[in-house]
Amino acid sequence: MTLQDKINNIKSQFADAVKGLSLTKKEVSDIKNQFLGRKGSVAQLFNEMKNLPPEDRSQAGKELNILKSELSTKIDNLLHAAADDSTSSLESSIDPTLPGDFIPVGSIHPIEKTIQEIKNIFGAIGFNSVYGPEIDDDYHNFEALNIPHYHPARDMQDTFYITDDVVLRTHTSNTQIHVMEEQQPPLRVIVPGRVYRNEAISVRSYCLFHQIEGLYVSKNVTFAEMKGTLEYFVKSFFGQNVKTRFRPSYFPFTEPSAEVDVSCIFCKGSGCKTCKQTGWLEILGCGMVDPDVFLKVGYDSEKWSGYAFGLGIERMTMLKYGIDDIRLFFNGDVRFLRQFR
Ligand code: DAH
Repeated sequence: MTLQDKINNIKSQFADAVKGLSLTKKEVSDIKNQFLGRKGSVAQLFNEMKNLPPEDRSQAGKELNILKSELSTKIDNLLHAAADDSTSSLESSIDPTLPGDFIPVGSIHPIEKTIQEIKNIFGAIGFNSVYGPEIDDDYHNFEALNIPHYHPARDMQDTFYITDDVVLRTHTSNTQIHVMEEQQPPLRVIVPGRVYRNEAISVRSYCLFHQIEGLYVSKNVTFAEMKGTLEYFVKSFFGQNVKTRFRPSYFPFTEPSAEVDVSCIFCKGSGCKTCKQTGWLEILGCGMVDPDVFLKVGYDSEKWSGYAFGLGIERMTMLKYGIDDIRLFFNGDVRFLRQFR
């Protein structure tokens, strides 16, 4: 066997010795002994050099030195990577006494929380949640809701127009029309969703916000039923001690119409800054569906009657949690959001 064969043998024995599972320090140092120790296989080859013809010795010395330094680099690397323990390095790398990794947990956005809560409250008395388009035509957002061309709500200052005839919906009331076009009464739905208004951004208003629309159509529906339903809702959402007040109002798509106030959640009705010393806070608009709206969707208004209502989610959430700036809902500050875990 030539010297080169012997060198190759040692290399492959070494490769066999270190392959497979990662080694402990003890195992690596045994291997080191076996190959590079005083009586190791490399030392033996150095010994055998004296049997070579003198002219071959210097070349052989060079090759053996290369082998030696190759193996010692590999062994150093193995020692570096090896675990201290005498057991396998996999076991020793698990320290059950260390504290676990911290995985940050997110939270549900307060707007989503309020939507869920309102859906549950109305769901319990038979209202289904449905959704409508945020980009809609003039007809569904305005015309069919009895909002005439000269109505100020249509003004470019309030409405985001996409084309002359297409808008970002300014309220969830558009979905009343879609639902009635698609379904026959009786029906009982709520419609949560985003709405858009071209308003100056301030602590009280934002260009985008959320509403929930409600619509109930059946036979002989009365204003008293609507009052009962909305009172049930207010008490479920704000608490049993909160009072409600219905004030006559006007909406083009309901007749008669009302606005609903709740006794001030902050001062319990005695008068404070939030309720402007009135003791009351306005929370929603409602009314009996106008027969003209039924006409637009092809319902017989002699046969069917109903009520509708609409409320702002941001406002409800601000009142419930005492939040004083609507922009907090939209700027994604985790210090704010974390409080709703
Ligand atoms: N759409 C109205 C708004 O955005 C809210 C509203 C009022 C909805 C009365 C209704 C309703 O369904 O009957 O201000």
